[in-house]
Order: sequence, then structure tokens, then C-alpha cells
Amino acid sequence: MSTVYNFNAGPSTLPRDVMEIARDEFLNYDNLGYSIMEASHRSPEFQNVIDTAEKNIRSLLNISDDYSVLFLQGGASTQFSMVPVNLLSTTQTADYAQTGAWSEKAIKEAQRCGSVKIVASSKDSNYNHIPEIESWDPTENNGYLHITSNNTIFGTQFHQFPKCSPESPLIADMSSDILSRKLDINEFGLIYAGAQKNLGPSGVTVVIINKNLLGRIPKNLPAMLDYNTHIKSTSLYNTPPTFAIYIIMLTTNWIIKNGGLANIEEVNNKKAQLLYDKIDTGDFYSCPVEKASRSKMNVCFRLPSEELEATFLKSAKDEGMIGLKGHRSVGGTRASIYNAMPLDGVQFLVDFMSNFEKKNG
Ligand SMILES: Cc1ncc(COP(=O)(O)O)c(C=O)c1O
Repeated sequence: MSTVYNFNAGPSTLPRDVMEIARDEFLNYDNLGYSIMEASHRSPEFQNVIDTAEKNIRSLLNISDDYSVLFLQGGASTQFSMVPVNLLSTTQTADYAQTGAWSEKAIKEAQRCGSVKIVASSKDSNYNHIPEIESWDPTENNGYLHITSNNTIFGTQFHQFPKCSPESPLIADMSSDILSRKLDINEFGLIYAGAQKNLGPSGVTVVIINKNLLGRIPKNLPAMLDYNTHIKSTSLYNTPPTFAIYIIMLTTNWIIKNGGLANIEEVNNKKAQLLYDKIDTGDFYSCPVEKASRSKMNVCFRLPSEELEATFLKSAKDEGMIGLKGHRSVGGTRASIYNAMPLDGVQFLVDFMSNFEKKNG
């Protein structure tokens, strides 16, 4: 079992209870005498796993039959292309909000496929905020509007969403904040998320798509890139990442057992508050992100110098905290405090920060 607090941005810490169940069942799943990893993806055992994972996600987000829930491969990065390839017609423009490195990548892929307009950007201020939605400049009759709900690298997050319509739906990359808070799924046409932060291990991407979008999908797309292929075969067109889906099942069981998204959100709010309060007290630590846009998942902060940051990271590791280095493109420090990071872990970090400041401030 991990004996450190793991603040990595993804792959990241998983709930201890989930890891213990996975360990206990690893060699002998459900008294079958073999591992779920060794089960055929066509077996009733695995069918039950994928059905439960889907049922859990549907129940947590209150997803109706108007939507399909898919378990795909190729990471969130494949969705950067699948979304426009499936949903952007040659006569329409797709609107994109440019709020960080991942949205830049999504935009670049969409530009390969069709007409794209950047309707809002915080690039000029090094992505330190989410541009006010009221100031956005959307295209009339756009094909869709794409946002990145949480910017893992820059530590910003949407705390409200732009209002869209069934004709011009909202599409969100929720890789780093899915299932971290309550959500009205009906505000979205499509949501996608790489699993490796809040859902499970890397290797599987969850896509939730409103069926009213399926009529847009062009004929003759490569089968693996066509949402219809995966909907028709209920995510079993080819061999899915069975073990990763099994861990999603366990993780969503854990969320349900722990009070669902209402409780998860409350705990996530507490963790973020604790950490931002520490950063905002005094002038030793600072947060480069504007208060209204701060992420409750990825908390970025700076120390007075890069030398102190290096010492901080080394001392934190010695004390049993890993993964606190900021993304290589921005530097500084970042604590990723996804669902599975307990409040105790954040308190441990905050106490360490106070002591470090006393010694070095
Ligand atoms: C917000 C966001 N989108 C997309 C990605 C890319 O995900 P993947 O590596 O699964 O392609 C990441 C990865 O960290 C991310 O944080």
C-alpha cells in the first residue's frame, strides 16, 4: 500500500479502500479462481463489471436514457479529434474557449478537421483565469462550444458553465474534475474524461454523449473513431481496457458508498479552502490564479524563489509527500487534490507548509 500522500496530477492517488479491494480480489475475482484481468471481455463476469460501472456513473450524474455512456481508449487526446470528426459539419464553425494547454491541443486537433473560432482566451495572462462568460463572442449557429472544465496545468476551473442549446451544444473535457461535484448533465451535449484522475487508472476514457447528436456523424468514418460503432456495441466493439473499467467500477462504488457527489463535493470544497487559506495567509506562498477561477482539484502555488521551491519539494518528499512539482511548462508547485486525496492528506500538507515557512520565511 502507498505509504505517502500522492499529490500527482494524473495518474494519481486512488481511494485506499478501492486499492485494498482490488488487491484482495486480484488473484481470485468473485471466487471464480482467476483474476478479472484474465476474464474474457465477452464473459458474464466482465459484462457485470462494465454494466455496474455504467450504472454507477449514470446514477451519480443522474444521466437519462437520452445519453450513451461509453468506455473508450486513446485517452482524452483522442477525443480532441473524435469530437470534431463526428460532430462538426463542413458548413459549421466550432467555438472553443482557450483556457490552457489542453484546450490548446483540443483546438489544434479541431482545426485539422474544420472551421474553428476561439471565442474566449486567457492566453495573454498566462491562463491565470477563466474569461468571464458574458464577454465571450460565440458564432451564431455554431456546431458546438468546447470548454475544458478544469485546467490541470494552470489550476483554473469553470465554476459556472455557458448556457448552450441542443443545436449548439456544450462539450466539455472534464478529465480532471469529472465526478468531483454535482452537475446538471442536461447542460451538456457531450462530456469526455480520461480516467486517470478521479475515475481510475489510465487507459480508459469515459464519454457521455446525448443521442440527439448522433444524426450528425458522417458515414464512412473509420470504425474506431465513430461514436456509433461504440454505442451499437456497448463499448465492446474491440477488447476494452478491462482492468481499468473494473477499477472505475470500484471507484464509483466507493463514491456512492461515501454519500455520492453531494458529499464528495463538500469534502473537496473543504480541502481546497484549507489549502488556499494557507496560501493566502502571509506573503510567503502565493497563488498565480485569480480567486474566482481557482481550481478545487489542482492547486498551483509559488514560493518566494525557485531555490526555495526546490528545497520545499525535497523536504516534502522526505516527509512523505510526492507529486508536488508544478507542470514542467509552468514550474512552481502544484497539489492535485482529487476525490481520493483525504482531508487528512491536505491537512498534513498545510501543516508542513506552516513549518517550512517558519524555518525559511
Ligand atoms: C484536462 C485534460 N485534458 C486532456 C488530457 C489528456 O489526457 P490523455 O493523456 O488521457 O490523452 C489531460 C491529461 O492530463 C488533462 O488534464
